[in-house]
Amino acid sequence: MLSDKVLENLPQEIRRRLEPYVEAVQLMTATNNAKVLKSMAPSGLRGLILQRGKQGVPTKMPSHHEVYFDWTYPNDQPEMRELYTRAKEQQWNGEDLPWHIDVDPENPEKPIIPRQFMDFEALRSSGIRLTDLEERRLNSSVASWMLSQFLHGEQGALFAAAQVTEAVQFFDGKLYGATQVVDEGRHVEVFHRYLDTKMNKLYQINDNLFVIIDALIQDSRWDVKFLGMQIMVEGLALGAFGTMYQMTNEPMLKQLLKMVIQDEARHVHYGVLALRDHFRQELSDSERREREDWAFEVAILMRNRFLSFEVYEEWFEHKLTRKEWARFVTDSPGFSIFRQVMFKRLVPNLREIGLLSERIKPHYERAGLMKYADGASATQLSGDQMIAELDAA
Ligand SMILES: [Fe+2]
Ligand SMILES: [Fe+2]
Repeated sequence: MLSDKVLENLPQEIRRRLEPYVEAVQLMTATNNAKVLKSMAPSGLRGLILQRGKQGVPTKMPSHHEVYFDWTYPNDQPEMRELYTRAKEQQWNGEDLPWHIDVDPENPEKPIIPRQFMDFEALRSSGIRLTDLEERRLNSSVASWMLSQFLHGEQGALFAAAQVTEAVQFFDGKLYGATQVVDEGRHVEVFHRYLDTKMNKLYQINDNLFVIIDALIQDSRWDVKFLGMQIMVEGLALGAFGTMYQMTNEPMLKQLLKMVIQDEARHVHYGVLALRDHFRQELSDSERREREDWAFEVAILMRNRFLSFEVYEEWFEHKLTRKEWARFVTDSPGFSIFRQVMFKRLVPNLREIGLLSERIKPHYERAGLMKYADGASATQLSGDQMIAELDAA
């Protein structure tokens, strides 16, 4: 494998392209699970090296799952049926959000993300001096980047929700899944409209997010789709939406996020219900180990790669190295809070579905993530409670 030392001696352009791949390979071999490597490596190649998400329209992906029919229409999962009822009652119309509110992402009075989100002092110590206006613009770029990734994640969620509705064997789950498809459609609608009419800026999909979406959309196993989308991507998104909800001073976005968070809380709840018994009772040890390692790899990929290189390429490509930018982002106060809250939402769900065994715990310990293990899982916290908790903090 290419070491960091070899990388440092390569021409900068080649290094820039290779770095994410080398990092991904290092990550994917971190748990030494050949099956995980085999299932993730093609997605890694398509996302990180070929950058398929950035090659224009369309991106096509083959899907391979089996569609599960049941002509007896059983009431087989009361908790899912309950979620289905709640989802129907809580539907809302994206048109009813306060779209009339004027949003100026560079307005210092109502910033999308707080001024202290980035540590501009740290940037100055790397020799980069931004004017006041440039600082506000960079903040606005970072906000647009995050919201763009939310939107791309929502598109992935829309298609994944459709797939799992077909593939899952619970009939009550299929009914519930139909509501999630509508929810995700609405989320695509409102995030896109916000980016288009309020931020006037849309970033391309981040390569790492693409890898994860590519992997779960193409995997034929229904439970891997669930694990990837309903637990990992949505669990982390729920944390990210909550953080943004707390941080933003822009009232229109705050209202939008409040509505989306309540939907997402149901989605993650459904993911936990669908996987809990399956992972604990129906899988062989080696199958469960594979899911456990897969989830850990994805968690680390997401943690390490929340690095907004798309913003870097726009602003600092020839002024900072990728490593300097990565350090700047990792240490910034805003992203530090994002990481914490995201994992606070995710890790308890992994515990709940049985993917936090004694074998994998030391990995999470080393990654600094075990401190979240005792928190409330999605089955213990409704969307309303989550909002109340965010408002109180
Ligand atoms: Fe969503
Ligand atoms: Fe969702």
